[in-house]
Amino acid sequence: MNILILGAGGREHTLAWKLKQSEKLKQLFVAPGNAGTQEIAMNLPIKPTDFGAIKEAVLEHDIHMVVVGPEDPLVHGIADFFASDPDLKYIPVIGPEKKGAALEGSKDFAKRFMNRHGIPTAAYQSFTAEMLQEGFNFLGTLKPPYVLKADGLAAGKGVVILQDLDEARAELSRMLLDSKFGEASTTVVIEEFLSGIELSCFVLTDGENFKVLPTAKDYKRIGEGDTGLNTGGMGAISPVPFADESFMNKVKDRIILPTIQGLKKDKIPYKGFIFIGLIKVGDDPFVIEYNVRLGDPETEVVLPRLKNDLVELFQAVADGKLDSVELEIDPRSATTVMTVSGGYPGSYEKGKDISGLESIKDSVVFHAGTANKNGSVVTNGGRVIAVTSLAENFREALKKSYENVERIKFDGMYYRKDLGFDL
Ligand code: AMP
Ligand code: GLY
Repeated sequence: MNILILGAGGREHTLAWKLKQSEKLKQLFVAPGNAGTQEIAMNLPIKPTDFGAIKEAVLEHDIHMVVVGPEDPLVHGIADFFASDPDLKYIPVIGPEKKGAALEGSKDFAKRFMNRHGIPTAAYQSFTAEMLQEGFNFLGTLKPPYVLKADGLAAGKGVVILQDLDEARAELSRMLLDSKFGEASTTVVIEEFLSGIELSCFVLTDGENFKVLPTAKDYKRIGEGDTGLNTGGMGAISPVPFADESFMNKVKDRIILPTIQGLKKDKIPYKGFIFIGLIKVGDDPFVIEYNVRLGDPETEVVLPRLKNDLVELFQAVADGKLDSVELEIDPRSATTVMTVSGGYPGSYEKGKDISGLESIKDSVVFHAGTANKNGSVVTNGGRVIAVTSLAENFREALKKSYENVERIKFDGMYYRKDLGFDL
């Protein structure tokens, strides 16, 4: 089978690495990919949202399946595009159609979905520009901190949490009246602040059946001790030690089952990943957000623990036969440490030579923001290289990841040295 992966980050390199292990795979393509995917697949210089160019590539390279990494193409309807095109409609897309992708594409839609299906989440109300005064009043009824969320996609930056009521009101005005996040903040969700510890839960579904993949915890802040600006993710650990069996049973009963059944009741076909951002409040799980894809860098610790053939698993999703598959999970812990460009998540330079990749021992290197320049690997993004290790427990795995990270060098390289500090 020939497979095309859409995307360019560490998640996509990990998907490529895992698919590559399958005997069922013939040729692998990644669009646009990075220097890491280039080593194991053919990179195609196509943007994941350029559906016309993707169609041409699929026909030219006789591609039998498309695996979508990031949310953008899904929210913009790539699965619908395939389903409605006579040349493409038999080619499965791993990722939901637009209707299902709205779980990530619209926070207001996701909140209404959760309320409709009795799924625990923070209390909320949604506001548009005409409702500014009502928004001010609603903020007045809440206790700080105040959580304001742009409804639409805002490249992970659309959530603002503020301590002060006046600041929260000013922020609401900026979002609604000054289009702070462009179209994405035409509607703003204001919600109750939940206090607890966060984790990510991944579900793969064919719309009827589902499998729960390993849990993971990512470290979003740039600074040690979870301080400073939010990033795409500075590292991850799987499994999450505090997500024990009794907690995961609650997640399954109160969140995963009602989510899958809710999709069916709402007649939303869904074939792909559901990434449930959870917060543990006391002993109870609440949904912070849904994403309609795998997480990055969570993928770098989730897929290395999956023993199944990923091509077979995706084929079962496409065929609606996920019930016929048993997941096999490596009981060891996986950790990944992300190295980033100096200045990230603010401005940073690209094109720095990366050395030491060949001296990595007993860990796996996943490329995030890299490119191949005249045969050498250079930096090409904020997040650059993730180093994943497996061991009996997460502290041992982290030790391996850190030993290997120290072998990698590029100008301005930074990474967090305190992953797992809170566990
Ligand atoms: P989101 O993009 O919805 O995942 O929000 C980004 C981050 O904001 C989350 O990972 C949480 O750390 C935080 N956050 C979002 N909603 C809430 C909430 N209701 N209570 C507390 N923290 C939240
Ligand atoms: N690591 C969080 C995300 O992929 O959205």
